[in-house]
Amino acid sequence: MDEDTPDEVLTEIRTRQLGGWGVAQIAAGTGLAVYAMWVGILQPGFRKVPLRLQVPYIPASKAQVQNVMTLLRGRKGGLVDLGSGDGRIVLEAHRHGFSPAVGYELNPWLVHLARFHAWRAGHHGKVSYRREDLWKVDLTKCKNVTVFLAPSVLSLLQEKLLAELPDDALVVAGRFPFPDWKPSRIEGQGVERAWAYDMQAQRRHTFQTNDNLLATGSHSDNEMIKKKIS
Ligand SMILES: C[S@@+](CC[C@H](N)C(=O)[O-])C[C@H]1O[C@@H](n2cnc3c(N)ncnc32)[C@H](O)[C@@H]1O
Repeated sequence: MDEDTPDEVLTEIRTRQLGGWGVAQIAAGTGLAVYAMWVGILQPGFRKVPLRLQVPYIPASKAQVQNVMTLLRGRKGGLVDLGSGDGRIVLEAHRHGFSPAVGYELNPWLVHLARFHAWRAGHHGKVSYRREDLWKVDLTKCKNVTVFLAPSVLSLLQEKLLAELPDDALVVAGRFPFPDWKPSRIEGQGVERAWAYDMQAQRRHTFQTNDNLLATGSHSDNEMIKKKIS
């Protein structure tokens, strides 16, 4: 009988050409690994969130964080980041004097990572990361809000912010603007851009737009929206 030595087997594996079946096996293995990572690391916490409201974790770049901070210049008080990921915006806001600086994040791994980053930076106990669904957070006392979320959720979030935030609040959105809002300032270019929205001006703008739509008879929900945000 022909016995292969380990060296011969290794040489054969190294020199053997990958056939279609081999490529398919590698593709399936890679797909499975990516899926396992998605389910195990990125998905926990999102089981109760409808699919259309699930936003994947994509951290803000240094330039994006910088643009957000520029738009927040001159502001004081607390800040909340809705969907805080690894906590970088909250940490930077704390460095710029915002207190309390709070991040709301559903993914427990990211909440732990954010706490670790704060501890490593020597700001443990100065910032706070809470594992909470941003849709359930009471925003009635928030003066500064940052959001780096997907366009699919921004239109719905507009309604929550309009209904809950005080008039003197400022909202800063990164990467994607709110679809129906009028920014008071814009900072940066391309994907690094960030948009600032002054709530009082925004409410006025929303009323005006809805009144115009009502005058043309094309917006039947106007009274309902007015009630919601008054
Ligand atoms: C695009 S990332 C932005 C992360 C961070 N704000 C930054 O700029 O680096 C969006 C984050 O929102 C979180 N997220 C999505 N839906 C959420 C929800 N309903 N409640 C809390 N966090 C949520 C995701 O887990 C993800 O970490």
